[in-house]
Amino acid sequence: YKRITVKSLIEMKANAEKISMLTSYDFTMAQIVDQAGIDVILVGDSASNVMAGHETTLPITLDQMIYHASGVIRGVKRALVVVDLPFGSYQGDPREALRSSIRIMKESGAHAVKMEGGGEIKDSIKRILKAGVPVMGHLGLTPQSIYKFGAYTVRAKEEYEAQQLKEDALMLEKIGCFAIVLEKVPAKLAEEVAKSVQVPVIGIGAGAGVDGQVLVLHDMLGMNKEFNPRFLRRYADLNTVMTDAIQQYNSDVKAAKFPSDQEQY
Ligand code: KIV
Ligand code: NA
Repeated sequence: YKRITVKSLIEMKANAEKISMLTSYDFTMAQIVDQAGIDVILVGDSASNVMAGHETTLPITLDQMIYHASGVIRGVKRALVVVDLPFGSYQGDPREALRSSIRIMKESGAHAVKMEGGGEIKDSIKRILKAGVPVMGHLGLTPQSIYKFGAYTVRAKEEYEAQQLKEDALMLEKIGCFAIVLEKVPAKLAEEVAKSVQVPVIGIGAGAGVDGQVLVLHDMLGMNKEFNPRFLRRYADLNTVMTDAIQQYNSDVKAAKFPSDQEQY
């Protein structure tokens, strides 16, 4: 395999080639996602919801992110692996942000980190970039600040918020971020942002006018029946597939139909 790098992503944008990105939180899933040809694997702090069952992304720790990321890295041969810096590990001061990023890079072997926010975390991002660690930005809906907003609704619908978002995107590009995730913002605004920067803009609920798309793996595989935002397309119904298989196994065990003569020693 030819490895995807931060440079290849910027080239893909220059060549108008769309970028595919999905989350993974463990070795087995990451291996499948990588071999299917996805360009970027995000070890998202959505692991807090998907893997641990928390209501928000706030509780997941740096140690837990490193644990998820090291499994993912062992399953990946081609994709670029980006790891979310969790809530509380970078907002305080640039030195702490650098320390957190270095731990992720050293202990998991990941290729880049992602951080939520614009101007507020500029100094932290700059410090990390200066150490040679690639940073992916994340603007729009930023789930780590859910308690500031109260709901996971569409962001930047007001003009002043849209203006702020555009400025933040330009700033992230200027200081050296290699890509920007835009979450749940109007498609028209997302397209404008994508056109205003040379680095790829990867959307989730941000329409088709951006440079790539990201979804949470378990959501797009249909493992969860409850989460139904408009932007989510389900490419499989794994919840039903898995439930059927597990129920079949359960009834076979109860009826003493498993194992058969061929399935024993
Ligand atoms: O944690 C996550 O899964 C994310 C994506 C939704 C962009 O940040
Ligand atoms: Na995230």
